[in-house]
Amino acid sequence: MPSNAIEMLTDDHHQVKAMFEEYEDLSGDDSRDDEKLTLVQQICHELTVHAQIEEELFYPAARKALDDEDLIDEAVVEHAGIKDLIEELKAMEPSDDMFDAKVTVLKEYVEHHVKEEEEELFPKAKKASDFDEDDIGAQLADRKEELMAMAGAGARKASEPPRPGANR
Ligand SMILES: [Fe+2]
Ligand SMILES: [Fe+2]
Repeated sequence: MPSNAIEMLTDDHHQVKAMFEEYEDLSGDDSRDDEKLTLVQQICHELTVHAQIEEELFYPAARKALDDEDLIDEAVVEHAGIKDLIEELKAMEPSDDMFDAKVTVLKEYVEHHVKEEEEELFPKAKKASDFDEDDIGAQLADRKEELMAMAGAGARKASEPPRPGANR
């Protein structure tokens, strides 16, 4: 895992992008609902941890180092939209009519947000003299490891597929 903050966050973006592409191959195929569910759970988990470490560590550091409050504010609002969609998806099953559509819209939201981070926020942070990429990177890596371990402890329960007929 890279220790540089920008490289690490960009790596996360690539990983999620690859998972969304994998989902595209499954979407529309009703016989692969189990694979869809597992993959979407992974996507939601990656996105949740990524958003959390950005909000706890990267955005506050960028807020201090950059003179651009609006850019960070917009990023936080975009995260909120992404998290809402994740919550909606978690309450659904792949057999639901709107499941594929919901995943597609989540992918589009994430693409838009990632583009703004990679094209605006990250280059500005890189240039800012008060932004220590290595120090923030180390903090991000530690926190990510912690959150992943926490999720691992409760993963069995979270990954159990909803029982048919439950919840309706
Ligand atoms: Fe973000
Ligand atoms: Fe990001």
